Amino acid sequence: MIEIAPSILAADFANLSRDIKQVEKAGADVIHLDIMDGHFVPNITIGPPVVSSIRKITSLPLDAHLMIEEPSRYLDVLIQAGVNWISVHLEADAHLERTVSYLRERGIRAGVALNPATPIAGLEEILPEVDFILLMTVNPGFGGQQFISSTLKKIRKLKELISCNGYKARIEVDGGIGAGNLHEILIAGAEIIVMGSAIFGANRNVADAMAEFRAITERHLQLT
Ligand code: DX5
Ligand code: ZN
Repeated sequence: MIEIAPSILAADFANLSRDIKQVEKAGADVIHLDIMDGHFVPNITIGPPVVSSIRKITSLPLDAHLMIEEPSRYLDVLIQAGVNWISVHLEADAHLERTVSYLRERGIRAGVALNPATPIAGLEEILPEVDFILLMTVNPGFGGQQFISSTLKKIRKLKELISCNGYKARIEVDGGIGAGNLHEILIAGAEIIVMGSAIFGANRNVADAMAEFRAITERHLQLT
């Protein structure tokens, strides 16, 4: 199953409810929330109060991508706010095993995120435990950046590692994804596709954009 996860970073924050309902109606599988602290990444975005409000207006799973230092400090408050999936960056958490176990014990899907330059070798010990790996395909911090094409090889490599070992982990990809590269990203092995500006920022309506991306994922599934 390929899941499309619109990132609200590119939505209109003054009309979040409207934008989230639009993608929900257009068939989004999960809502991707980019949580940034101004330390791990230069940007600052939303925190738990906004997440709580979002929880009230959608029944879709909420996927919190934590681009924050020491993310374990915020797990409880985000779980309380109603998120369903949480990913923490390998580069920001010195105690990944503890974090992943903590999340899984609480019924949260646990993910580990990697910056483009971080090698997948660092995942060796944690990979059997996680529900998903979020491979950044741009440097985290901002929407609307250009896809880093060397990450395609990394997706393929990770897919092979997961398949060869029979792990359950799924691959989420995030950054610079749109109609021009979605197909090759799917071929490489990604299954959860985060898209911000290609959905909310395009000069056309959200439903058309979602329909186009869904058609690409359906075609891919038919071919494989
Ligand atoms: C970047 C964020 C992404 C971002 C993707 O740090 O993690 O989720 O919203 O945006 P686009 O799809 O515009 O690259
Ligand atoms: Zn993200």
